[in-house]
Amino acid sequence: MNATNEKPGALLAPSDVQGMFDRISRRYDLMNRLMTGGRDVAWRRQAATIAIGAGAERALDVATGTGDLALELSDQGVPDVTGLDFSHEMIVAAEAKRQQQSVEGVTFLQGDAMNMPFPDGSFDALTIAWGLRNLPDYQQGIQEMARVLRPEGRMVILEMTPLQNETLRNAFNLYFHNVVPVIGGVISGDRDAYRYLPDSVGAFPPAEDLAGMMRAANLRNVRYKLVGGGTVALHIGIRN
Ligand SMILES: C[S@@+](CC[C@H](N)C(=O)[O-])C[C@H]1O[C@@H](n2cnc3c(N)ncnc32)[C@H](O)[C@@H]1O
Repeated sequence: MNATNEKPGALLAPSDVQGMFDRISRRYDLMNRLMTGGRDVAWRRQAATIAIGAGAERALDVATGTGDLALELSDQGVPDVTGLDFSHEMIVAAEAKRQQQSVEGVTFLQGDAMNMPFPDGSFDALTIAWGLRNLPDYQQGIQEMARVLRPEGRMVILEMTPLQNETLRNAFNLYFHNVVPVIGGVISGDRDAYRYLPDSVGAFPPAEDLAGMMRAANLRNVRYKLVGGGTVALHIGIRN
C-alpha cells in the first residue's frame, strides 16, 4: 500500500522519491551494473525490442532516469523518442549522456508520470523500467500510460518482481536487504535509498496481479516473462 492512502503504490511520497533520485543520480548507473552484474543492459535491450515490435515511429520511455532505455529505443531504430522523468538531476544526467553519444531524435523532459504533458494516443510504443514501483498509485499510473499510447500501441513494463519460491526468496532477500544497502551506501553515499529498494520490491504486486492491472487499464494480450532468475518481470500489453 502506498504512502498516503490504501491503494497499491510506492512506499514513499512522490517528493521523497524525487529527492532520493536527485541525490543518487551521479552513481545510479554504476550501482545498476554492480547489483545486476551488468544484466540490466540486456533486459532494457529486450524491453525495447518487444516494445518496438514490427516498428514504431514515436516512443516514450517513462521514468527514464539516466536515459538508458530511451537511448536503446533510438539505437534500435525509433526516429522520435521522448524520455520523461520528474527528477531534475536524472534528466540532466540523461541529456549529458545523449550529447556525449551524439544521439539525435531523443528528447529528455522533466515531468510527472502520473499526469503527463501529452495528448491521448501520442505514442506507438511505451516503456517503463524500474519506474512503476515508485509511482504513488500503480493502477492510475498504468492508466495514464495507456492514455498516451495509441490503439494497437505496445506497453512494456520492466520491473522487479517478488520471487514466488520461498527458499529462493529468502536467499535473495539476504543479499538484497544486507549486501545491497551497504554497497549502495558506499557507492552512492545514500544507504537509505538502497534500503528502500528491497523494501519496495517486497511490497510490489506479484507478476500476475500486475498483469491484471494492465488488463484493467484497457490493454489486451497481456503476458509476461521472468528474467534474472525470476527476480525481474517483463510485462507486455497491447492498447485496445
Ligand atoms: C529506478 S529509476 C529507473 C530509471 C531508468 N528507467 C532505468 O532503466 O534505469 C526510477 C526513476 O523513476 C523516476 N520517477 C519516480 N516517480 C516518478 C514520477 N511520478 N514521474 C516521473 N518520474 C518518476 C525517478 O526519478 C527515477 O529516475
